[in-house]
Amino acid sequence: MLRVETAVIPVAGLGTRFLPVSKGVAKELLPVIDKPVIQYIVEELVASGIRRIIFVVSDNKREVLEYFQKDEALEVYLTAKGKMNELASIQHLHDMAEFFAVEQHQPLGFGHAVLQARDVVGNTPFIVCGGDDIIDGDVPAARELVEVYERNGGASVIGVVRVPAHTVNRYGIVAPLHDGSDRTFQIKDVIEKPSVESAPSNCAAGGRWLVTPEIFESLARIEPGAGGEIQLTDALKDLLQTQPMYAHQYSGVYRDCGNKVEYIKAIIAFGRRHPVLGAEIEQFIHSA
Ligand code: UTP
Repeated sequence: MLRVETAVIPVAGLGTRFLPVSKGVAKELLPVIDKPVIQYIVEELVASGIRRIIFVVSDNKREVLEYFQKDEALEVYLTAKGKMNELASIQHLHDMAEFFAVEQHQPLGFGHAVLQARDVVGNTPFIVCGGDDIIDGDVPAARELVEVYERNGGASVIGVVRVPAHTVNRYGIVAPLHDGSDRTFQIKDVIEKPSVESAPSNCAAGGRWLVTPEIFESLARIEPGAGGEIQLTDALKDLLQTQPMYAHQYSGVYRDCGNKVEYIKAIIAFGRRHPVLGAEIEQFIHSA
């Protein structure tokens, strides 16, 4: 079985839910305390054994790749000023992994963005991450998916969260092959926005997907789906025709930081646990 050492993170979307700020700053670079959203994702991947990280960027959004590149002048400045903690906070960024960027010239969908990474990924399984999805937990979410992949002969794994039954019509919902009550189960389908009555489970796909390289053939074959975009969900349905696939419910909390309220919740959750700032933030929350 091939080891999972590669991840693809699309960051080429327009971020319309986060306007106006996303007009000036990529939403993946918005801070949660003092680190951008994308750094939480990269740290989770590195803690999960990922060594190569491929960002899918738009033509004018290379700042996500640049954030992970060495800044010689800033390092010299901080050293000269004796700001060693600040130096340490930026020094490791570039050597956490090997970083690459591929371009998506037009935002034609999440699946289309993943397809742009085909040549750089090569013939190996890889993890796809939503560029604005933090999964906040003690165990890195990507590592959980890798473990399910390894236990099941190298099958693809979709990360899921359980959502309230009356909200299933907003998500891509997985259909269990047999029983879907455990945290990990084999699936037979993924259904985009099913009606509340017809939904096969309350497990919504989101955040992380571990896929075999055959996903690229599916992505290249399928027609545009919802919103006229090439959707990863449609490619997964296609792949399910020929390969087994599993769903795994994260042990951490999923936070869609492309959504304003969820982003603020992430700041509060990380803020109150912060080793230096936590006590003051907690006090403020109680007094506000
Ligand atoms: P989202 O659907 O959250 O991003 O996609 P979006 O389209 O930018 O957001 P809204 O809905 O307009 O606010 C999840 C991730 O996929 C990337 C986004 O940048 C985000 O990190 N993405 C999405 C692409 O790279 N290309 C696309 O065509 C679409």
